[in-house]
Amino acid sequence: ARVVVLISGTGSLCAALLDATEDPAYPADVVAVGADRPAPGLEHARRRGVPTFVCALGDHPDRSAWDRALAAGIAAFEPDLVVSAGFMKIVGPAVLDAFEGRLINTHPALLPAFPGAHAVRDALAAGATVTGSTVHLVDAGVDTGPVLAQREVPVLPGDDEPRLHERIKAVERELLVETVARMAATEREDESSR
Ligand code: GRF
Repeated sequence: ARVVVLISGTGSLCAALLDATEDPAYPADVVAVGADRPAPGLEHARRRGVPTFVCALGDHPDRSAWDRALAAGIAAFEPDLVVSAGFMKIVGPAVLDAFEGRLINTHPALLPAFPGAHAVRDALAAGATVTGSTVHLVDAGVDTGPVLAQREVPVLPGDDEPRLHERIKAVERELLVETVARMAATEREDESSR
């Protein structure tokens, strides 16, 4: 399956997916990595000769134009699956119209607990003793789409946000690689049954 990954930051989850796809037996290939800014994580793609693109909100007159440009940027690579991995923007109707149902996101909490951009900090502030990682289909809401996979991560005494987030990201990487493989395999079955 052809996968486009969207990032905004360090792209460590994207790097894990790129590593997984180097195994010829893995049923997906990352055909491009996109970002909403010149994200450092794009380097993971460039180093592997994987095309990259940047679609920055500030380069467009308004959010709707940005959303349409992002949808076009993704569509140019004809993906079977789009993976938001640390992509810190809420996609709009143009992206959803084009990709809903094959657009997934990874979130560092056990949704519906702790949605939004500060999930790890919020779990710590709430005194949670267990949190985790969620991979879900993206819908028009914020972190609200159907859950595809979840895995628990313990909160340990003395955890601060960076340490807990790293522990969660280690699980996110596993869960994302597994979920993409599962969806790609399903995609392959669908193709063969067409
Ligand atoms: C991940 O925890 C992701 O769930 C969250 O931001 C982090 C991205 O990390 N939205 P990276 O950019 O993949 O290192």
